[in-house]
Amino acid sequence: MAKIVVTGGLGYIGSHTVVELVNAGYDPIIIDDLSNSQAGILDQLTKIIGFKPTFYQFDLCDEKKLKEFTEKESDIEGIIHFAAFKAVGESVQKPLKYYHNNLLSLTNLLSAYSGKDISFVFSSSCTVYGQPDVLPVDENAPVKPAQSPYGNTKQIAEEILKDAIASGDAKKVIALRYFNPVGAHETALIGELPIGVPQNLVPFITQTAIGKRNKITVFGDDYNTKDGSCVRDYIHVVDLAKAHVAALKLMESNYFAGYDVFNLGTGNGNTVLEIIIAFENATGVKLNYEIGPRRSGDVEQVWGDVTKSAKELNWKAELGIDTMMASAWAWEQYLSKNPL
Ligand code: UD1
Repeated sequence: MAKIVVTGGLGYIGSHTVVELVNAGYDPIIIDDLSNSQAGILDQLTKIIGFKPTFYQFDLCDEKKLKEFTEKESDIEGIIHFAAFKAVGESVQKPLKYYHNNLLSLTNLLSAYSGKDISFVFSSSCTVYGQPDVLPVDENAPVKPAQSPYGNTKQIAEEILKDAIASGDAKKVIALRYFNPVGAHETALIGELPIGVPQNLVPFITQTAIGKRNKITVFGDDYNTKDGSCVRDYIHVVDLAKAHVAALKLMESNYFAGYDVFNLGTGNGNTVLEIIIAFENATGVKLNYEIGPRRSGDVEQVWGDVTKSAKELNWKAELGIDTMMASAWAWEQYLSKNPL
């Protein structure tokens, strides 16, 4: 079984990808420093996949620990690099924390495996497009000046990866530009686990529905969209996880070399208000919400052109908004009865 290193493998997207790797016959090796995840996710993964995955706890910025790891795990065939800080607002307050962690972990990883024939999948983001001029936005759209240090780390990381390909430090790299991942695994044993007050829409919705929050605020209803609230391309996290397997398969094929980038979305946009209604319809739970001011740094609308992913990655999102909302709700209910 091909060994695939999954950094940030106990995080939200990482944990779902570990499950899909096992389903596809790979042997995932998790690295996670637990800075934004919980050790309990390892037991949850064990319940889903039937065995305890290999797990190393350390920070990828720690070169010594990484060296020990590479000496022990020398026969790996791929790396999926999720480990990064991702809170847009925090990145504005603490930019150095973001540049240090998100970029040093990447350069350390690339250096550790420099020149080896390893497939490398990188977690990028639709944030690199800013507010696109043309929608749906495709992979050739110009990268706009980043709105936040977090977004900047994603743009710089893509540049680093291209340079590493050009120099031969890396051999095969696919950057995946995620739109808005939501939902949880069908078993409701893993899902998004925000620390503190959720910054993202769907965890805020589910925590409001369960009574942890009084109400949800819609950040602006005066945008130039169909109902005035912002539009995003929400994608089920399990679909997103499967795209990482598709990226590995593509890099295993003989004709892939160098660097490529793919959008991971559904190709459809939904407003914040549509998501609130979709949640109510899918779960039968009424949400207490109010309209508030715009959140600074938000783009008005973005959704992806996923033609290239369908054609070249051979991947397409399959799960709809109802499943996204119902699974996120099932996970929130599970968590309330089984805190991790
Ligand atoms: C942002 C980043 C994305 C990043 C993600 C990580 C941009 C354009 N997107 O996603 O790259 O990966 O954070 O966390 O920088 N909303 C409310 N009320 C709330 C919360 C959110 O109305 O309480 C609205 C927001 O205004 C937005 C939508 O819901 O329109 C989605 O917000 P969120 O889940 O935070 O994701 P993004 O900001 O799109």
